[in-house]
Amino acid sequence: MAFAIMCSGGDAPGMNPAIKKFVDYVYKKGEIPYLIYDGLEGLIDKKIKRATHSDVSGILHDGGTIIRSSRSKRFFEHSYRMQAYYNLKEFDITKLIVLGGDGSFRAMERFSSEFDINFVGIPSTIDNDIYGTDYCLGVDTALNVIRDALDKIRDTASSFNRAFLVEVMGRDCGYLAIVSAMISGAEVCVIPEAPSISDSLAKRLKKEVEEGRNYVLAIVAEGTKKTTEVYNWIQEEIGLETRVSILGHIQRGGNPTVYDRLMAFDFVVLAVDYLMEHANSNKVAVYKKGEFALMEIEDVVSGKYQLPKRYLDALNLLD
Ligand code: F6P
Repeated sequence: MAFAIMCSGGDAPGMNPAIKKFVDYVYKKGEIPYLIYDGLEGLIDKKIKRATHSDVSGILHDGGTIIRSSRSKRFFEHSYRMQAYYNLKEFDITKLIVLGGDGSFRAMERFSSEFDINFVGIPSTIDNDIYGTDYCLGVDTALNVIRDALDKIRDTASSFNRAFLVEVMGRDCGYLAIVSAMISGAEVCVIPEAPSISDSLAKRLKKEVEEGRNYVLAIVAEGTKKTTEVYNWIQEEIGLETRVSILGHIQRGGNPTVYDRLMAFDFVVLAVDYLMEHANSNKVAVYKKGEFALMEIEDVVSGKYQLPKRYLDALNLLD
């Protein structure tokens, strides 16, 4: 039996530990592991290599992915998907693991509806926006990068009479922003799920500034596209000189945390074990309410991830 692993879409810390575990575990099970380089683009271009232990030695602690990733436009075309399928057949690869986000899973759903593909997707995106799972690989590391940046920004904010606005990633999901606001004690948090600032918060902050509050920390999720609006609001309504930091791609980098390494191992073992025993798999590995499970890909891609209510309640507490 030949197994292969690939990354697709944005890279996420935790991909390398997953790749290492995959190679070691598949060999341990007496089967052959392959690496597909450059994501779906590489699958189309047959960048496929039988893995050796030395390919994956010394990578556990590295961010990014040694097999690289891509966002593929060509994979939207049937002829390229067919080419990808025949590449897998040529190597006798019948079991595929895809580390990616919802865009990649949508592509896999399409691929598996047309061709005889057995795969398990492993949610891997710092956005934590995949329906059906409470956790995606990379999130803990990204949150720690943001936490570190916010702690530093607060140091300088508290030394000056200023507000700091920090824009974080997350695409259309406010997970990174809301958790970062909770753990940094930010006064303002604007996310796609709750994009407006309440009058009561504005009133309270303005009064506090008049009474001597000398700094404010505001976190804005990129998906709101409200960074400029919030910047103007703080300056004009709250009356504090404001600086903006857009954290950008540093949020996707960095050594995977202990949690991301362990989650990578658990997801991979679940995926390989399932593929060993099943011939027709179109599944996504999920972690829900503290348990690992497998979900049908159709269900995953047709649902919409919702932020935990307790986090939204915590956001309301900032009012
Ligand atoms: O999906 C991960 C992510 O980092 C998002 O948070 C962000 O919006 C996007 O990818 C950035 O994409 P790119 O790396 O292609 O600019």
